[in-house]
This record gives sequence, structure tokens and C-alpha cells, in this order.
Amino acid sequence: MCGIIGYVGREPAAPILLDGLERMEYRGYDSAGIAVRSETRGLQVKKAKGRLKALYDLTHGGADMEGTLGIGHTRWATHGEPNDINAHPHISENGQIALVHNGIIENYLELKEHLLRQGVTFTSDTDSEVVAQLLEFHYNECHNMLEAVGRCLRRIEGSYAFGIICADYPNALIAARKDAPLLLGYGDGENYIASDVTAILKHTRKVSYMDDGEIAVVTNDSIDVFDSELEPVEKTICQVDWDVASAEKGGYPHFMLKEIMEQPEAIRKTVSPRIRDGRIVLDELHLTREDVAAFARIFIIACGSSYHVGMVSKYNWERLLRRPVEVMLASEFRYCDPLVDERTLVIVISQSGETLDTMAAMREAKRRGGRTLAIVNVVGSSIAREADDVLYTWAGPEIAVATTKAYSTQLVLMDLVGLYFAEELGTVDEETYAAVLAEIQLLPEKMQVFLEHTEDVQYLASRYFNHDSIFFIGRNLDYAMGMEGSLKLKEISYIHSEAYASGELKHGTISLIEQGTLVVALGTYAPLFDKAMSNVVEVKARGAEVLALTTEDLAEKVSKTADATIAVPVTHPILQPSLGVVPLQLFAYYVALQRGCDIDKPRNLAKSVTVE
Ligand code: G6P
Repeated sequence: MCGIIGYVGREPAAPILLDGLERMEYRGYDSAGIAVRSETRGLQVKKAKGRLKALYDLTHGGADMEGTLGIGHTRWATHGEPNDINAHPHISENGQIALVHNGIIENYLELKEHLLRQGVTFTSDTDSEVVAQLLEFHYNECHNMLEAVGRCLRRIEGSYAFGIICADYPNALIAARKDAPLLLGYGDGENYIASDVTAILKHTRKVSYMDDGEIAVVTNDSIDVFDSELEPVEKTICQVDWDVASAEKGGYPHFMLKEIMEQPEAIRKTVSPRIRDGRIVLDELHLTREDVAAFARIFIIACGSSYHVGMVSKYNWERLLRRPVEVMLASEFRYCDPLVDERTLVIVISQSGETLDTMAAMREAKRRGGRTLAIVNVVGSSIAREADDVLYTWAGPEIAVATTKAYSTQLVLMDLVGLYFAEELGTVDEETYAAVLAEIQLLPEKMQVFLEHTEDVQYLASRYFNHDSIFFIGRNLDYAMGMEGSLKLKEISYIHSEAYASGELKHGTISLIEQGTLVVALGTYAPLFDKAMSNVVEVKARGAEVLALTTEDLAEKVSKTADATIAVPVTHPILQPSLGVVPLQLFAYYVALQRGCDIDKPRNLAKSVTVE
């Protein structure tokens, strides 16, 4: 959730920290703060509730703060309401240690009571301040910061990424991580720590990823990493190939719109390198044909939109592989005593590669002997590093909290992998294999054609943005796609919305349909089109206003019943959600725009959910 950055070098730290925080604001945005150390002024701390802009104004873009060493934080509140005091950095009682934290300290109350008994005074309600105070306590014992951090970490339980500076160390940042992302950035005469590579991309592409239990001491010309026993650890430095421009708006009013428009290109990047001479080639995969054949059961585990990709994939994979595929929310999977053994393939899908529930579910699956395959966007992220196999979606950085291009690339990659496994198992005939593969390659072009004319969707958004409750109905793949359409809408426009399997509607939910209720009827899945249309007639008969989404070849038929129709190009039926989801993303976007919502940073949400 929260974003962390740290800088040590020769430049004024505060403007660099603010710039990095701005690029990570999607991780949390209820308050922000920075701490900078200088020879003359010692440790200075500024914090402000609200968006980063408030902190920027308070510090005059960082100009008010002197020093070339500092840490910054943008917060998504867990313990304690969002206000100036609970914002990070937290300072120890003597004002000599500043700390930023992402994660949750589970035993903070016990530690706090211990420190209170020692006479320590607390100012905030956070679990994080407890660590700053505990650190001072241990530093007073040993007068060595690395040793004090080590002692501290041995006492705390929970998840953390920490950035720490101490007045006694004019040229050192200390970082530590467990179950929360943190990376080290290698510059020239300057070095960085950050939760997310986009925060430091402007300054360096050379990074290493911290592992659980590690502590790093970062100065302007060295980065030394230690394990939990304080033994030195060698890190591998990776070169990040994302460019700065891909993490900027590039003339679009919002990242979300930019990322919607980038989808054809993102899909191309995900797919093209994996097709050679009309065959799917997954060089990164270590699973043999025998491994695939041995799996008796497949789980797909994810959260949010990634889970919705799993919903579509369940239908498609069962159809292609003739194997049971179960899709589960990661938060449910980990506590349900799942039936995983050596003959189970567990696929985890995650854009960030850092979602805590997904990560924990994957570990649980491994513990039970399952083979794990991760579909991840962020290279080097925790899930990518821990999975037995990883396939990357090459979507590039996604900044808007509401995912679009990451969803689309996950979906197409899952279709590709499903088809590949089906061929290995001999459960797909050559004709279908070739037809689906050819259509996968045509998806970017077809999507591009649709994206060149978005006026109809804009118009429909202006016609319907005032509704306060919207239903998405569909069957099979349309139902799965509707779940994503509904989530997009509620995430960014705050309109109550639900996705229903059309056939299930009359078992309760139809009672909510009254005169004028907007129903988005999804009829893109050709094999069940007629059935879907009978459900549309049922809601029309009860007064619903129907906005239909279908394919170009069926549009005329639909428009006889629906009040308004959007049509997308036709593709192979199993790929149709890849095209159908685009107008749903755009509809959510334009509705939110009409309602004046903060599209890229919707209330209460964060892009990367690293708490349970
Ligand atoms: C958050 C984001 C969603 C995302 C979900 C899972 O809720 O706002 O857009 O789908 O987390 O994230 P992941 O990074 O694991 O795909």
C-alpha cells in the first residue's frame, strides 16, 4: 500500500523525495511526509494530511528543507486515522531517528506497552511509531544503528518495509524488508531505496530487490546488504527496461485513459515474442509436457481484477483442457484448507506481484506441495521471485489505481497459456488451435479500430451517469466480463453496481429492477446469445433501461430490444471478453468524468494492497 522512498547523495534530497512520492502516490494518498537531515539543521520533518500537493505546498516544493539525505512516505491508513500526526515519517522521542513504514506490525500493542512502562511518550496512534521508539530504545543500548535495527526486527511480528535515517549517521539510509516490497537503486555518487521502481526510474535503472529478512545500509557510494543475522549478502543488480515516459501521462488527462489506449500495444508486446512460426513458444516456462499431463487439478488464485481474469480463464481453460479448474479469491483460498497436493497446478495472477493475500495463498499452495505458476506484470516483484515459474505480462508500468491494460494483458496471456497446455495435452484440435492463435494475433488491431471511435461510449456515459444503481448481466464469459465492468464502474464512479449471471437474476435480484433501472446487458458470447436475449426481455418487461453490449454481427438483432447498443468487432468466442471489456472500461471512465470523480486515485483505494 504505502509508498516509500529514500535518497542519499549530493543533491538536495527533498525535491527528489517529493518527485518520487508523486510517482508512487497511487500506492496510498491520504497523507504524506518527508524527513531530511542536514549538518546545520539536523533532522527536519514535514508532514501533511491529504494529497501530496499539500506537502509540496508546505515545503515549497522541498526548497524549505536542507540536506542531501532523506526519506519520504505516502500513506494508506491502517492504524490511526489519516491526519498530520499519524502521517509518516515517525520520529523517536529524542528526535534523532526518523522512520517510514509500509506494512502492519502485528504485536505493536505489546511492544507499545513495554515502551510505555519504560516512560516513552507516544504522539501518534500508529503501529509504525512503535518501531521508531523501539529503535531508539535499542540504539541507546548498543549505539550502533545496524545492530539496533537487527535487535528491533527480532522483536517485531508482521510485515514491513522500513526506511530509516538517524541524526548520528549523516550519510546513511537504513532499509529493511519482510513481506512488503522494497528495492535498492544504484546511482552515480547517489543511491536510493523505494517501494516501487517508478519512483526512481528518472534517476537510475539499476536496481536490486530486497528479500525478506534483509537489512541494507545505503550511503552515497555504497550499498551493503545483510541477512537477519547481520551476515553480508551479495545482491544481483538488474537493469529495468521500463522508460520514464511510460510512467507519465503523455498528454492524456488521466493515466486511466492513457492506459486504456495503450492496450493494443501492451497486448502486442505480451503476445508477439511468444509466437513463432504459428506455434506458441513459452521459453520462460519450465513445465514439461509430462508435468502438465500429471496435473489432476488446477487452481487460479488472485484478487480484484486479476481474479476476474481468473473467472474468464476458468471457462476457457476447462473448455480447452478438459481438466477441473477452480478459481478462488486469494483471501479465501489461504484459510480454506485447500485441496492442493503434488498433482495440483496453482496459477496466481497479480499485476503488482506484491498483493499480500495472493502472495500468502501462493506460499500456502507451495507448502502443500502444489506447483506454482505466476502471471505477473512487475518484473522482480515478490510473487514473481517466489513462484516456481513466472510468465510476465509486458504491460509496462500501470499507474491508475483502476487496472485496464494489466487486466487485458493478463487475460490474453492466460488464453495463450491455456491454448499451449491444451496442445500439450492433446485436448485441442489443430483447426481450433490455429483459429484461436490467429485471432489472438489480430486482437490488437481489432481493439485499435474500436478505440479510434469512442464517441458513442462517451455519449452513453453522459446519458446514464446520473443513475445510482447499475446492473451488469450476462452468461458464461459475458458474466465473467461483467464482473470486471461492474468493478471498474464502482471503483471510479462510486455508483452502486452488481454483476449477475443472467440466468440467476430471477432468483432474487430481479426484485430490484424497477422503472428506469439501468441494466448493462452483455451479449457478446455468441453460443449463448439467444438465451442472454431472453433475459434482456425479462428485465425490459419490468421497466429496465437496457444498454446492450454485443458484437458487430449481432448489433442489429440486439437493437430491436435494447435502448442503446455498443458493438465491438467479432473475434473467436473465447477471446471475445478481450474486446468486450474495452467499452466497459471506457464507460466507467466517462461516467466518472461526468461525475467529477478523481479517476486515477479513487477514494479509499490503493493500487497495491500489501495488507491483509
Ligand atoms: C487492488 C487494485 C486492483 C487489483 C487488485 C489486485 O485492489 O486496485 O486493480 O486488481 O488490487 O492486485 P494485483 O496487483 O495482485 O493484480
